[in-house]
Amino acid sequence: MGERKGSLRRLRHHGSACLYIPLHRLKVVLPNYPPVPQQLEWGEFFANGLPPDVLDVGCGEGGFLRRFAAEHPESNILGLEVRKALVEWLAECIRQEGLPNAAVLWYSVVNGLPFLADGSIERIFYLFPDPWPKKRHHKRRALTPFVLQEFARVLRPEGVLYIATDFPPLDAYHREVLEASGLFRYEYVQEDVDWGLPQSDREAACRRRGIPYVRMRCYVVKT
Ligand SMILES: C[S@@+](CC[C@H](N)C(=O)[O-])C[C@H]1O[C@@H](n2cnc3c(N)ncnc32)[C@H](O)[C@@H]1O
Repeated sequence: MGERKGSLRRLRHHGSACLYIPLHRLKVVLPNYPPVPQQLEWGEFFANGLPPDVLDVGCGEGGFLRRFAAEHPESNILGLEVRKALVEWLAECIRQEGLPNAAVLWYSVVNGLPFLADGSIERIFYLFPDPWPKKRHHKRRALTPFVLQEFARVLRPEGVLYIATDFPPLDAYHREVLEASGLFRYEYVQEDVDWGLPQSDREAACRRRGIPYVRMRCYVVKT
């Protein structure tokens, strides 16, 4: 993977609280709120002009996204990231690395995935989402029942949702939302099992520091 382009330190801080709230629930929309497109021109994202078949939700600095794209030239992977400066930085990394099948969109996933067709996505990665440990911040967690419904809608029947976290209360929250939805069945994948995927930046940091984490594969329940 290429070297870091420019300083990341100033890009790391969280944006304003409203970024984690769906647009339709905001009374005042600030100019720093990402657009909610109903349709996208995929030729502007991927060299082959096709829509994505893989999503990396909350892609952050994009280490996973770029490694996955390099290892899977047959797939178009789209990262969704709410922090605009980070998106601009990552888009430049992708451009400099010449990855024709990787792209990143400045977007808050709490608005669902209106720009994606039903049954069009093979894999969704939701890796090490922000834990928002304080109770008053739980509402900022991105895996809402609506978002999960959107994941189920856009996944192909054989599609898989991958979730990872190193924050046990967030794992419990994910299980609660998954079970309440009835849309997915899930299995845990032991940390020492190779699940055939590159490591995300946070996963690599957990490994380096010996922080335990859990990984899940979630399958759409057939109706
Ligand atoms: C802890 S980082 C993990 C990054 C990466 N997935 C990894 O495993 O290294 C979580 C990322 O999710 C992004 N994020 C949080 N809420 C989001 C939302 N509603 N929509 C899109 N991205 C979001 C954050 O800005 C942050 O970059």
